[in-house]
Amino acid sequence: MAKTKSFSCSACSASFTKWSGRCDGCGEWNTISEDKALSAGPAKKTLGGRRGSTIALTSLATEETPPPRTTCGVGELDRVLGGGLVPASAILVGGDPGIGKSTLLLQAAAQFANAGIKTIYVSGEEASAQVRMRAQRLGLRDAPVQLAAETNLRDILTTLEAEKPQLAIIDSIQTMWADNVDSVPGSVSQVRAAAHELTTFAKRNGVSIIMVGHVTKDGQIAGPRVVEHMVDTVLYFEGERGHQFRILRAVKNRFGPADEIGVFEMTGAGLSEVINPSALFLSERGQPSPGSVVFSGIEGTRPVLVEMQALVAPSPHSQPRRAVVGWDSSRLAMILAVLEARCGIPFAGLDVYLNVAGGMKISEPAADLAVAAALLSAREDTALPADTVVFGEISLSGALRPAPQSENRLKEAQKLGFSSAIAPSGGKSFEIPGLTVRKSGDLTGFVGEFFGAG
Ligand code: TYD
Ligand code: MG
Repeated sequence: MAKTKSFSCSACSASFTKWSGRCDGCGEWNTISEDKALSAGPAKKTLGGRRGSTIALTSLATEETPPPRTTCGVGELDRVLGGGLVPASAILVGGDPGIGKSTLLLQAAAQFANAGIKTIYVSGEEASAQVRMRAQRLGLRDAPVQLAAETNLRDILTTLEAEKPQLAIIDSIQTMWADNVDSVPGSVSQVRAAAHELTTFAKRNGVSIIMVGHVTKDGQIAGPRVVEHMVDTVLYFEGERGHQFRILRAVKNRFGPADEIGVFEMTGAGLSEVINPSALFLSERGQPSPGSVVFSGIEGTRPVLVEMQALVAPSPHSQPRRAVVGWDSSRLAMILAVLEARCGIPFAGLDVYLNVAGGMKISEPAADLAVAAALLSAREDTALPADTVVFGEISLSGALRPAPQSENRLKEAQKLGFSSAIAPSGGKSFEIPGLTVRKSGDLTGFVGEFFGAG
């Protein structure tokens, strides 16, 4: 039987069954190469001829103890991991170059090593001396972490096999070179092969492996999600360069909740944890001003208050601008359309800018009402009272839907000194002492009550 070959494009990672000079997916030339498996075994008969062995089957009721976990003492990291590091797990930490991944992982490596976990840190990007210098600057010189600067995956795996660490950190997956794959480090086939080898190694040898992955311009790790499905946990390290806040976000976790976030601050002495993110995100807030509204959000298991800022100005262009930082631009278009169609408030001829303060990224639909409030406040040039938080989802009909975990949102607001909240009616009511909750059933009612129009 002919061996089936597969080819993939190193630029966009599209797969093909035959080679060609130009990729049909992205139009690049000379980017298609054959995918080779590391362990190409002898060709097998078809599965219809069945010569396999029987697999032992178990019932769902079989007792399973939860995996033992090791905490490193950095609470924000431990929580994002789902309560600590699980042995034999493969973790991918993605993020833009320069955002602080190496710093975070070096600090984590030191903490884990200090907690008695045998830890090896392999840098494929920096020389050992550079890593040592950084460690000294971070005050981690005495942590029992073993270092290596290497990119040859075969040598790395051989070393890990001999040294038997409990945790290995590979910085970064894009610099790793598997010598059985004919393409340059960083290409999709190399990254895929390296991640596969490392993940398999982690499972087989009981080593936890953390891999660093640089995110490409379009926000994906080395081409479309080639690694994410292989690993147990995917964490993204995000933040704006100009801000000192960094957010570690779990986007996938087989051993804990996804969507959990850890908040850090980049200081001269490395990353320090932020125990109360709401206070930090609101710390730069000044006097109440038009266009600024505080949203009471939920990130993972924690409530987080953030400021939504909007600016609405007459547009000099025939196509008014819509610019969004930290939120979904199509969701903004939807809110503008609902305001126009259901409340008769047009935004035609106006430029609209929306920004989530502090470099935070919000994806919750519950932010809709806060965004609408910020837009209206900016458009009408009227500030909402400074001690008010807003949350709620807006449907296309203009109705407001209650948001999940309303009680936690309200409690967090009260804890941070807010005395009133605007929330959708419906759902359960909660009495929070010191906090007045004003409810609206639909957007028209909300606009009428707070902006005197609609
Ligand atoms: P780094 O961890 O090298 O980023 P990555 O591995 O994601 O590419 O972080 C680099 C940035 O962090 C660099 O611009 C300097 C800054 N930084 C600090 O501000 N303080 C510090 O203590 C360290 C180590 C780095
Ligand atoms: Mg780095």
